[in-house]
Amino acid sequence: MNVYDAERMADILEGEGYTATETIEEADLVVLNTCHIREKAAEKVYSELGRIREMKRDRTALGLETRIVVAGCVAQAEGAELLRRAPAVDLVVGPQNYQNLPDLLRQSQKKRLVETEFPAEDKFVSLPAPTAKTIRARGVSAFVTVQEGCDKFCTFCVVPYTRGSEFSRSVDEIITEIERLAASGVREITLLGQNVNAFHGLDEAGSTVSLATLLDRVARVPGIIRLRYTTSHPLDMDDVLARAHRDNAAVMPYLHLPVQSGSDRILDAMNRRHSVADFRAAVASVKRYRPDTAFSSDFIIGFPGETDEDFAATMQLVEEIGFSSAYTFKYSPRPGTPAADMADQVPESVKDSRLQTIQALVTKQQRAFQESMVGRTLDVLVERVGRKPGQIAGKSPHLLAVAFEGSADLIGQVVSVEITESVTNSLIGQLSDRPRAVA
Ligand code: 5AD
Ligand code: SF4
Repeated sequence: MNVYDAERMADILEGEGYTATETIEEADLVVLNTCHIREKAAEKVYSELGRIREMKRDRTALGLETRIVVAGCVAQAEGAELLRRAPAVDLVVGPQNYQNLPDLLRQSQKKRLVETEFPAEDKFVSLPAPTAKTIRARGVSAFVTVQEGCDKFCTFCVVPYTRGSEFSRSVDEIITEIERLAASGVREITLLGQNVNAFHGLDEAGSTVSLATLLDRVARVPGIIRLRYTTSHPLDMDDVLARAHRDNAAVMPYLHLPVQSGSDRILDAMNRRHSVADFRAAVASVKRYRPDTAFSSDFIIGFPGETDEDFAATMQLVEEIGFSSAYTFKYSPRPGTPAADMADQVPESVKDSRLQTIQALVTKQQRAFQESMVGRTLDVLVERVGRKPGQIAGKSPHLLAVAFEGSADLIGQVVSVEITESVTNSLIGQLSDRPRAVA
């Protein structure tokens, strides 16, 4: 979502005469888009700001002005504290205020400013669309936020505080945005939301539609051939959505479904509102409709009170499900969240050793999944030229990176690729002359 947000901020700033640069030393304006989900990400902002401050000093010596904006969830959470700790910052702007960036920039010229209100209006309505040239430069696979915020209040998580309560965009607004992307060459859309499968946007008739219906509508947009959505909550994974994995040909056989822990006791303490059995049932329902679905998940290791037995249950769940990939995080206490004040915080050394154990298993599964593709012919959406000369690269239906020899003219098309080799984090193959199985 931060990638998407950064793009939308670039779009609005383009209207103000700014253009993006690859070289930070050249920038008259630096917008730091930030993440508050774990302590490490949040702390990085301050070290980054230190570096940017030095750059600003060098530019000032050359008579150049540099304005510094901190956006994103650290901006939302820290607010005025950022102005205090980082004197070079001109403007602090939360994720719900990007539509006002031009105005805020003007105001902050006179006085350093913090804007972290949750406005009543839909920010997406006032965010300008990217130009055709910008869309082309961003590539054939695009993110579109359809839902934002969260009402679930897991006890470890800052999202309900930084992104606010759940909000779904209207179907009309989403389709208009996607039509525009498709007209400039986008072929794959990933619908985004902190709780994307809780989507409940209004359609043109004023009725509330579910994510499954939205996926159907998006699949009908000419040019869109692949659909993904992330991130989902196990409790919102209903039968209608599971069925879309069979009935909507554009929906790819891949699902990111965070479970966090394999222990009911810990899930309860996390206020996840679902059991391990609910997670198993959600996986099974998607698999029933689309047996070749690959699953990925998120795990928090060392949540307060996590015992060896709880951790063993998590390991067992990973063994049982078999993930194509998984993201594992050491529990990081976040200020203002209930879990940060819980007794029985797990010592860092225990977290470290459990993290290593689970990562070894996840890596093994990831590798095995990739290797299971060798010898198969896969549909690959070609996204870009490859790292080696003459190579092009794209993604398989299961979101695996595939590189092979071919012409850059194929970018934007789905081609058949025979997989010959599995290397670290990608597959190598060759263009097949066999016709593709699926459109
Ligand atoms: N500590 C560690 N991991 C966290 N996540 C969210 N909050 C925390 C935290 N306090 C992880 C969850 C979530 C992912 C986006 O980040 O696994 O699914
Ligand atoms: Fe955070 Fe996801 Fe829980 Fe919402 S459902 S509080 S975003 S972990």
